[in-house]
Formats: sequence, C-alpha cells, structure tokens
Amino acid sequence: MIITIDGPAGSGKSTIAREVAKRLGMRYLDTGAMYRTITLLALEAGLVPGRLDEAGALAAATPLRFEERRDDLTRVFVRDREVTDEIRGRAVSQNVSAVSADQGVRSVLTRKQREEAARGDLVLEGRDMGTVVVPTADLKVFLTASIEERARRRQLQLEGQGVSQPFDQLTADIAARDAYDSGREIAPLRKADDAVEIDTSALTITQVIDAVCALVAEKHLSAPATQAKKWRLSRMVRGPLDTLLYRFAYSFLPPLWRLLFRMTISGRDYLPSSGAVVLASNHRSNLDPFFLGVSSSRQIHFMAKAELWKVKPLGRVLDILGTFPVRRGEADRMAVKRAIEVLSAGGVLGIFPEGHRQREGLLGEIHPGASLFSLREGVVTIPVLMQGTENVVKGRMVRFPRVRVAFGPPLELPAKDVPRAQRALLTSERLIEAYRSLLSSSADGS
Ligand code: DC
Repeated sequence: MIITIDGPAGSGKSTIAREVAKRLGMRYLDTGAMYRTITLLALEAGLVPGRLDEAGALAAATPLRFEERRDDLTRVFVRDREVTDEIRGRAVSQNVSAVSADQGVRSVLTRKQREEAARGDLVLEGRDMGTVVVPTADLKVFLTASIEERARRRQLQLEGQGVSQPFDQLTADIAARDAYDSGREIAPLRKADDAVEIDTSALTITQVIDAVCALVAEKHLSAPATQAKKWRLSRMVRGPLDTLLYRFAYSFLPPLWRLLFRMTISGRDYLPSSGAVVLASNHRSNLDPFFLGVSSSRQIHFMAKAELWKVKPLGRVLDILGTFPVRRGEADRMAVKRAIEVLSAGGVLGIFPEGHRQREGLLGEIHPGASLFSLREGVVTIPVLMQGTENVVKGRMVRFPRVRVAFGPPLELPAKDVPRAQRALLTSERLIEAYRSLLSSSADGS
C-alpha cells in the first residue's frame, strides 16, 4: 500500500507521516529532507544562488541514506556524514525553495522517490507526492493548518532545539515559502483532486493520526472484495433479541462490573476510535474477555478457546458478544478466517497471544502465530495488561479482588523488509517488552 501525505510547511506532515507508518508497520520517506540535503550540499559547493544548473548533477551523484531513530526525527546521511541537524538550519530553510524549484534536481529526486515507492508499503511525505510522484497512490492526504498555528509549531520545535526566533519572522518565512512552493511552475504545492484534506489547526497529533488510519481502514472496506466481509461482521451479532442483549450488556453492565471489581482502567485513549485493531492481552482467567469487554469503548471480537462453547448458555453469551471459537493445538482455518474478517472490516480483534492462562500471574510465552494478525496491512496492535482476574474464581469461591486493565501504546512493528518469520518473532518480543513495561508501571508490580 502507498500513502501520500502532502501539505505546506508546518502542517504536521513529518510527525503524522512517521507515526502513521509506525502504526501500520510501513516504511516512511521524508522527501523534504531529500531536497534539504541537496540544498545543503549546493550551498557548500557554492551553487546557490548562481549555478543551479549544476545542482541536478549534484543530486544524481549524492547517495542519500535514512535511518529511523526510534521516536524522534529520521536521521539523514550522505555517505557516512550525518546531516540530520544541519539540514534544518536557517541557511538551508531559506534556500531550499529555490533549489527545489530546479527541474534537474526535481527529476533526479522524483526518480529516487518512485524507486522507493516501487518497493511497496511506503508513506511518502512532501509537496507533490499525490500529484506528481505517485499519482496512483492508494490513499492521498493533504494536510493544512492556519499560518499562525504553523508558525507557533515551528517556534516550539526551534525552542526544543535551543533556537529562539521571533514569531513575526517565522510567520513571514512560512508565508514566503508557501508563496514560492505554490507559485512555482514545476510540481507546485497543490492538493490532488482525489486527496482527502485535513485541517490540523485545532487537532492533536493523535487525532490526525487516528483520522489517517481511519481513512486507511475505510479504503480496505470500500474495496469491492471486502464488501461482503462488512456484512458478515454485522451478522456476527444476530437477530433483534441478540442486538438488544448486546446493547444491554454493553450499556448497563460495564459501570456495575467496574464498581464491583474496583477496576482501574488506564491508557484507554491508546485504542484508536476506528479502524482495524488487534487487542493483544495477557491471559490469567477465563473471565478475561469480560473484563476487557467492559474496559473498552469499542466492541471487541474475541477469539476464545472452543471448549467454552461446550457449556451451552456460556456459548450463547459468547456468540452474542461477537466472540468466536478457536480450536487450539491445530491450524484452525475457520478461526483465522473470521479473525481476518474482523480486521478487514475495520473491527477490533481480541486475542490472548499466550494461548493458555497464566494463573500464577506471570507472563507466558507468546504463540508466534498470534503476531501474524498484527503484521497485516493497516492493523494497529494495542497491548493490554490485565491484573487481578486470576483471583476472581479460586476453587469454588467467587471473590471481588481489585482488577487493573492497562492499555499500552501501539506496538511498534518491525520494518517491512525484515523477513516475515523474523518479523513475527520480533513482534512477539516487542509484545512481551510492552507487557513488562506495563507491569513495571503498575502500582503494586504484581
Ligand atoms: O517539508 P520540508 O519543510 O522539510 O520541505 C523543505 C522544502 O522542500 C520545501 O520548501 C519545499 C521543498 N519540497 C518540495 O519541493 N517537494 C517535496 N516533495 C518536498 C519538499
């Protein structure tokens, strides 16, 4: 899948593009950094302003390399020289528009960007991604924000780097760059006709990321092949009585249940309000799906062990709640198919990757197959740590221990070019790491 994110300076493109790529397990390309690097080299070679006709050759001869820094900026290298910080300096910012208006430079960088896109699964961010570089992209987003808001963001960013610049000067710089980028003849900044515009002025970063991820999920839904899946998902809750029971269960029971178990629920905002999600929870009790169900703002379709359906009334309740059986210890194709249906329809899939309950409250080994759902395109994986549910039923006694449900930040997925099996293992390791970090941030550490 190819996603393009275009927009003016300061509209939040870089942060959004990087985070969306991270959530969806895709690669990310900051094309502004490419233009900035060539500008830096052109300045050093004395090509700016007079000898721009030589800048194209310079771009062609420059090997660029990007390296992901975990949660910060992408690091940029020219051979072994790191230019990450230098390309954000004022000299580069003031000259980059002129360099990027040069036809020679543009055709070289456009070719490089298309080569990256041809490798698949990429989020490209820039000015002409949706209009010129990849007009066939699966999803095109155009981000905007008011000029004041963009200047304010830039000021904060600079302050973070220890640089102070007057607000008026920043506003003027941005306005000048807007005019130049939109007014140039070649590949001007313009919203593609089929791009979705999002004004980010009054939105938080998470809200914009959620919106883009929701658009991705919607794309999956509107593809003709998945139309039927949408229908089937709604069929998982059957008949008017079931719908009524479901509504009752989810509107009436959660507050009561939370009160009874003095539940503390943290990090619920990490669960995106729409789009395909894998909720990967640790497993301590057969009651875990209920506790997770009442903690979540969205309906969860759980994959639960088939044995539970042997107790008929329980099986009915599970059906009503949209839960479906998985036969353990064998390749249960039907269960995998239903899980994929849930995700393709942009639903929430609840899984217990440890497979078996860990009644002693420890963490078990992750079943490697569980990670494969997380590696599907457009899926966000949220780790959840449950504590206390192992104490609800002890022998024949039912108790009301304190229960804690902690949602963690979306799991960062291994890059797409890592071999698939390796990706699954790495994902499992990261899930265990996420559980450990949720465990260590819990008050009692149990
Ligand atoms: O996104 P940025 O501010 O880092 O981009 C720096 C400059 O590069 C910007 O002034 C316009 C130019 N640019 C471009 O012309 N085409 C792109 N695809 C990306 C950036």
